[in-house]
Amino acid sequence: VEERTFVYLKPNTIQRQLVGEVIRRFERRGLKIVGMKMLWMSKEQAVELYKEHIGKDFYEPLIKFVTSGPVVAMVLEGPHAIELVRHTIGNTDPLKASGGTIRGDYAISVRKNIVHASDSLESATREISLFFKAEELFDYPLLL
Ligand code: CMP
Repeated sequence: VEERTFVYLKPNTIQRQLVGEVIRRFERRGLKIVGMKMLWMSKEQAVELYKEHIGKDFYEPLIKFVTSGPVVAMVLEGPHAIELVRHTIGNTDPLKASGGTIRGDYAISVRKNIVHASDSLESATREISLFFKAEELFDYPLLL
């Protein structure tokens, strides 16, 4: 099942100069980058992205954090990409993220947890369309 998922590297990842480290892991996993851009998220985009968390205690600081600097957004494609990317990233809670996962290797904070990825087919579709136009996603073959 070929899927597309939305991923973005959070502001601290760019500030810690871990962009290459993180993207390298997705590429080595075999995922295909079909769209990628650097952007500074607006408050409106952040609110839309995280609307399911409105009212939670971590919500306000989360919105402040993700709009505090530029991020790198991408769309990754591959078999079972949504679940595969979630496994590659590791648990949201750094105490539960295994070594060898991105968060397990680079995150100590649940808020500044390096990277976000869609958690379902429904959120992937919604999140991709929030940040990418159809013509910003590219169809090309991987060399295998
Ligand atoms: P993300 O995958 O971007 O989706 C929701 C985000 O909320 C999550 O990563 C964390 O950055 C943040 N988050 C979730 N739970 C907490 C928490 N308990 N405290 C602070 N931030 C949280």
